[in-house]
Amino acid sequence: MTAVFERVAGCYESIRGRIPFEPQVALVLGSGLGDYAQEIQVVETIDYHDIEGFPVSTVSGHKGQFIFGYIGKVPAVIMQGRVHYYEGYPMEDVVLPIRLMWKMGARVLFLTNAAGGVNLDYGPGDFMIIRDHITSFVPSPLIGPNEDSVGPRFCDMSSVYDEELRQIIRRKAKEMGLKIQEGVYIQTTGPEYETPATVKMCRLLGADAVGMSTGCEAVAANHLGMRICGISCITNMAAGISGRELSHEEVGETAARVSRTFKTLVTGVVKEIAKLVRV
Ligand code: HPA
Repeated sequence: MTAVFERVAGCYESIRGRIPFEPQVALVLGSGLGDYAQEIQVVETIDYHDIEGFPVSTVSGHKGQFIFGYIGKVPAVIMQGRVHYYEGYPMEDVVLPIRLMWKMGARVLFLTNAAGGVNLDYGPGDFMIIRDHITSFVPSPLIGPNEDSVGPRFCDMSSVYDEELRQIIRRKAKEMGLKIQEGVYIQTTGPEYETPATVKMCRLLGADAVGMSTGCEAVAANHLGMRICGISCITNMAAGISGRELSHEEVGETAARVSRTFKTLVTGVVKEIAKLVRV
């Protein structure tokens, strides 16, 4: 086995006795959804610090733990706090949690994040279903020896974000009377926000929203054959659009303002996903 997947196995072994069930859905919480656990029936939590060989996030406001619980009837593992490339970790560390949740048994991955609006028709507080992504500005997490037993060396990326899952999100949003955007997410390394010229480039490349996470996680999960969906919360218009300076506070404020709606949407979608997977 490759060193990377041996490490995943090591992390798994160090906590397997504490994992209460085989999760079916893995949910990654972005900014503003951090307190999502209050919504659900929590069965167990595992602090990232307690996992041997696990990269631990350093960003303030990002708690680091796996939460195991039932969303409706769906056994889920929830990442409260992700690892970002800009923290200085290599890509294999950034996506290790995704591979670990797969190792636990999750075959559906639901990604959420905060992002800057690049599409001029978007506004702060909008939600965007991720239809596709651009990760050309960050290294691929698949660089290095390939673990052939889990996924192919040259991995097809034609439909990373599952059409059926996207349909569920559209339907749920409609039921809630919620306008929802659908577009392309572009990942930058961060940690600095983009310049206006970079944002213009992103738009010219066909991106609708920009952020510093998620794309690489989807790449790793796609390699593992997981079914993937993602929703971005547009917390601000990207640099140069509104004329105002960007701040982490603004991102947090918008995320907090719409978090109730976001949580309702996420819960509704996961319950529907249950119909696709065995529960
Ligand atoms: N750029 C990059 N990442 C972000 C932004 C942004 O404008 N807003 C929230 N995350």
